Amino acid sequence: MKSSVYDCVILPLNKIHNRAGNITIVEGQANVPFEVKRIYYLYDIPGGENRGGHAHKELQQLIVAASGSFDVLLDDGINKKVVTLNRPDYGLMVVPGIWRELMEFSSGAISLVLASLYYDEADYIRDYNVFLKFKRRKNEK
Ligand code: TYD
Repeated sequence: MKSSVYDCVILPLNKIHNRAGNITIVEGQANVPFEVKRIYYLYDIPGGENRGGHAHKELQQLIVAASGSFDVLLDDGINKKVVTLNRPDYGLMVVPGIWRELMEFSSGAISLVLASLYYDEADYIRDYNVFLKFKRRKNEK
C-alpha cells in the first residue's frame, strides 16, 4: 500500500463530561478504523528524550496523549509533518509505511498507543535508508 503523511489524520474521540471528570471511549472498528489487538503506553520519559525512530510495514496505530503533550514527526520518505498531541480526546492515526519520531515530551506525559497487530519485530523498519528503499519499492507499484 502506498501511504503518505497526509493519510495520518487527527481523529476526534468522544468525551463524556461530568462534574467528577471526563471519560473517553475508543472502540475498535467504531471510532478507530481497525480492530485493536494491543495497547501500550510510554511514560516516565526523561526530559529531552525521543522515542520511535522507526516505521511499520503493516501496523496501524492510534496515538493519544493520555496525559501531557508531545510532538510526533511523521515522514513518508517525501513529505514530513509534525503533529502536536496535547488532548486525551484526540488521537493521531498513523498508517503503515510512515517513519515516526516522538519528541518534546512534557513532564509526566503519557503516550497511549492502540495497535492493530500483536508485537512483531519483523514488522519494524528501524534503519532510515532501508525505509527509503521500502517506500521507493511501494511507490513504483
Ligand atoms: P519500540 O517500539 O522500539 O519503542 P519506541 O518506539 O517507543 O521507542 O519498543 C521498545 C522495546 O520494547 C523494544 O525492545 C521492543 C519492546 N516492545 C515489546 O516487546 N512489545 C511491544 O508491544 C512494544 C511496543 C515494544
